[in-house]
Amino acid sequence: MTRLKMGVIGAGGIAQGRHIPSFLKLKEKVVLTAVQDLNLERAEEVAKTHDIPYVFEDYNEMFERVDAVTICTPNKFHAEISIAALNAGVHVLCEKPMAITTEECEAMMEAAEKNDRLLSIAYHYRYTPEAQLAKKAIFNNEIGDPLVTRVQAMRRRKVPGWGVFTNKDLQGGGSLIDFGCHLLDLALWLLDDPKPVEVMGRTYDRLSKTPGQVNDWGTFDHDTFNVDDHVTSYITFENGESLQFECSWAANIKEDHTTLTISGVDGGISVYPFELYQAKYGTLFDSTAKMNEEESQAGLKQAENFVNSCLGNEELIVQPEQALKVTKLMEAIYESSETGTSVKLK
Ligand SMILES: NC(=O)c1ccc[n+]([C@@H]2O[C@H](COP(=O)([O-])OP(=O)(O)OC[C@H]3O[C@@H](n4cnc5c(N)ncnc54)[C@H](O)[C@@H]3O)[C@@H](O)[C@H]2O)c1
Repeated sequence: MTRLKMGVIGAGGIAQGRHIPSFLKLKEKVVLTAVQDLNLERAEEVAKTHDIPYVFEDYNEMFERVDAVTICTPNKFHAEISIAALNAGVHVLCEKPMAITTEECEAMMEAAEKNDRLLSIAYHYRYTPEAQLAKKAIFNNEIGDPLVTRVQAMRRRKVPGWGVFTNKDLQGGGSLIDFGCHLLDLALWLLDDPKPVEVMGRTYDRLSKTPGQVNDWGTFDHDTFNVDDHVTSYITFENGESLQFECSWAANIKEDHTTLTISGVDGGISVYPFELYQAKYGTLFDSTAKMNEEESQAGLKQAENFVNSCLGNEELIVQPEQALKVTKLMEAIYESSETGTSVKLK
């Protein structure tokens, strides 16, 4: 079988921690062929460590050597690099968020369609075993029509003190665009992509702008910190469903937690941990599941789905139009917070 030739663009934390190890585990289907980073020394080091034959400083030079790329740069460059790759005939797996603005996402989709290439986004929470099980349970009508969804993506005093996460120009936002986006994506996917119609949002930065904070994930400059560290939102959908959302990097709470629950007409579901809440045999009835897969498998499954799709053997699990919807919602949350009014979506 011909192996997919894969390039890595941006050789930092997520490329080294998730993408490269995952592709290396799939070596019968994919070969890591090239790596590119603005920081050439880093690219060379990563190539040497993993025996990757080609290193480039300019990503445009990489495209003729590869069939597909994974884009692991700061968010600001997701659209520009994806479009360049797609126009060069290369499939793209791009890190989340798809891009900072809806306009950029639309341009990415246009390039994918025009060049008949695949474009997927690394919303890897979908591949966690709990999420996979929840998708099956909802599909099997265990909870009936969903009504109210609650999402919390909460960390206690963990502003990332490395990389460019607190730089609005390079990332477009903070806790929402970095962490909350995963749970928004997961919620929309589990709800089968309902159409959002109105969004209310509030963003906060006061805690991180206050000097001398205790922070568990390294240090950052409170003066230059210009993104959100805590966000709340209320989203309503055309079909009458609603979603209550909260995410934070720096909340003053007892402990970190990731919560996604859906209350439906016939039952309810919690994704983390996976539980079903129903009424059966004349009584309230709860079900749990034995989970024996590690979260790290999600990165591998994501890579596998992308590679199999590029080889024509599978459908992409994360479609670009779904990822665009997440960016549209985040844009609306930020806009609502700025204007102080709700945002109506068409
Ligand atoms: N899916 C997840 O759970 C998850 C987790 C962390 C980060 N991410 C995403 O991954 C991306 C990268 O994050 P990271 O933590 O690896 O950051 P990082 O700072 O560790 O690495 C980014 C790398 O990109 C390089 N770079 C910057 N601009 C570039 C450009 N224009 N062209 C080529 N290379 C460039 C940098 O030199 C650096 O090596 C971000 O979009 C982030 O949102 C996703």
